[in-house]
Amino acid sequence: MSFPDVRPRRLRRTAALRRLVEETRVAPAELVLPLFLKEGLAEPRAISSLPGVVQHSRESLRKAAHEAVRAGVGGLMLFGVPDNANKDETGSAGLDPDGILNVGIRDLIAEVGDSTVVMSDLCLDEFTSHGHCGVLAADGSVDNDATLAVYAEMAVAQAAAGAHMVGPSGMMDGQIGVIRKALDQAGYQDVSVLAYAAKFAGAFYGPFREAVESTLQGDRRQYQQDPPNLREALREVDLDVAEGADIVMVKPALPYLDVIAAVRDRVDIPVAAYQVSGEYAMVEAAAANGWIDRERVILESLTSIKRAGAQITLTYWATEAAQLLRDRY
Ligand code: PBG
Repeated sequence: MSFPDVRPRRLRRTAALRRLVEETRVAPAELVLPLFLKEGLAEPRAISSLPGVVQHSRESLRKAAHEAVRAGVGGLMLFGVPDNANKDETGSAGLDPDGILNVGIRDLIAEVGDSTVVMSDLCLDEFTSHGHCGVLAADGSVDNDATLAVYAEMAVAQAAAGAHMVGPSGMMDGQIGVIRKALDQAGYQDVSVLAYAAKFAGAFYGPFREAVESTLQGDRRQYQQDPPNLREALREVDLDVAEGADIVMVKPALPYLDVIAAVRDRVDIPVAAYQVSGEYAMVEAAAANGWIDRERVILESLTSIKRAGAQITLTYWATEAAQLLRDRY
């Protein structure tokens, strides 16, 4: 036998051949754009650690939503950033129908209707004075079950504001079941739940903390998962599926591709991944230095997340990537 007599390179010779055999293709409809709405802003405000991402005013939020829909983006995930004066121990501004997040949900629905999927972050960290994702017990730890009662009310408030889908991101035990039950009892059987099922307490959320003006001291290691643990992530996913999650998410994305792949093998509901602020910031910083080809890295990273098994990706590049992908196919 003479070598090489098998030649995989034949199918790589021209761009047309490569396109013909491409195994993984990201579509704009699989991308979800996270958006920040800041209370009281007249103009959008830059976020220094997330170049190109802003805290929106109500007006600029509607414009960004409109652009995203025009680019074919599959969904919007809204975060509310209240005025500091409106933060308190229990995060009550998150439940207030006139709180910034619920106002933003109504604005988004008025702007885009059912033309995309309007999702809302269901967590207390933006609304609490201490910055934790739940309410605190006397010893300063986050009180799981007391937090669940608040999440239940928050879910109903977001559904009443018109959210198509709520995104519980606080990693409290039992949160999906409690939220599902509260929505059903309030008549919102059709509002779906995107469960942040395996969310890791890593170091990739730094820029997000600036984006939402987080007041957190310390960390979230008592409720988010420890980065080394894959089997534990699958257990979290199983629980969320059993409690009624419609979609399960892994977060962050690129450092956790193995987790995404294992979750994909495990469940038969849609799997999402969140390409988080630190992932975005690293690419933007390297590109700004001329060290990498920005657009190629964006598309390569999104392709990798899809190849690992996520059929939905939350990314701050959603609108731009959707435009790039349209030009490409
Ligand atoms: C918590 C929440 C966080 C992110 C999304 N939801 C921050 C955290 O867990 O500390 C991070 C997203 C990102 O870094 O892009 N509500």
